[in-house]
Amino acid sequence: MASSTSSPSFFPARRGVRLAGTGACVPDKRLTNADLEKMMETSDEWIVQRTGIRERRIVDTEHGESVKHLCAKSLERALADANLKGTDLDLIIVATMTPEMACPATACMVAQMVGAGHAGAFDLNAACSGFVFAINVAHDLIKGGAYNTVAVIGADTLSKLMDYSNNGRGTAIIFGDAAGCAIFKATDDTSKGVLAQSMHADGEGWKDIYVPRCSFDFPQGTPFDENKIDVVQMNGATVFKFAVGTFPEVIQQTLDKAKVKAAEVDMFVCHQSNQRILHAARDRFGLSEDKLYVNIDRYGNTVGASVPLCLDELRKAGKIKDGNKVMFVAFGGGLTWGSSLWQM
Ligand code: COA
Repeated sequence: MASSTSSPSFFPARRGVRLAGTGACVPDKRLTNADLEKMMETSDEWIVQRTGIRERRIVDTEHGESVKHLCAKSLERALADANLKGTDLDLIIVATMTPEMACPATACMVAQMVGAGHAGAFDLNAACSGFVFAINVAHDLIKGGAYNTVAVIGADTLSKLMDYSNNGRGTAIIFGDAAGCAIFKATDDTSKGVLAQSMHADGEGWKDIYVPRCSFDFPQGTPFDENKIDVVQMNGATVFKFAVGTFPEVIQQTLDKAKVKAAEVDMFVCHQSNQRILHAARDRFGLSEDKLYVNIDRYGNTVGASVPLCLDELRKAGKIKDGNKVMFVAFGGGLTWGSSLWQM
């Protein structure tokens, strides 16, 4: 239990924020393009050419596997990486659009699962932008002195909101399930932390990615179809256009805010939405292949988990180190988009 005596002062000396550890968890169950070919009219060639995805992982619902298990495992791994215990956490934020239930917050269940005592816990929903929004929130809560040690988890199980038939083939091929976690801590080194960040939304675009729960949730002009209830509805071409434009724009704005050049950034950790969108951003900034990470081929678009999953792989591979400048970027349903440029 985080004791009140260890709570930091609200008027702290100037402090920085450092990344203390990361962890990730993907389900064992694989859903390959060949598997999808048996479920709908599609082909490995079409999927790879349009998205770069070869396989994704999905939870084994028959054995009760769900988002809270992925979250807890990713957090346990991040705690071990940071050499911390659950009781060392002051706050847990879970960024998800597929919570375990409407109430309680998934973060509360995860806190209980890892023995985090009475640490604060809440969920944040900004769809695919969720993890980037949440690390911005966590950073400022630590920087401002309210908290010392915060775990941020990005986790989603979109497989439960897919129609794996011909009707859903434009959407179901994209998404996979996963969780990733980053733990942040206060540090005396004031050079560490966020150099510039942004969080944006355009509610006009809500109908480009939504999950209807009842007849009233369908946009005007879209006829009610009960087969679409609890299934992701996505206007793929519109989202693609939005992403291709927004991605480089938000990167450039964040670089300008921090007065940093693209070449000075050691790694761009971007939401894995579509390989073509990522390659377009890479070309726009003249980045070498190893500076903008892509793992969409193995996991698909894992929504809130995609950025922390990349972060964990990069850290474990020694490609993100202390002293690096790292830019996190994401966009998604809402529509939302955001960034976070860190001095590690
Ligand atoms: N297999 C084969 N054909 C498919 C298919 C599939 N899985 N899904 C759709 N098609 C067909 C369509 O029916 C259409 O056929 P038609 O021309 O005969 O009508 C054709 O392929 C083109 O469909 P379209 O939806 O225009 O394809 P696209 O080139 O836009 O690619 C996406 C579809 C979804 C891959 C692409 O729009 C995309 O990646 N969008 C961004 C989505 C995204 O990033 N979402 C997450 C936001 S965080």
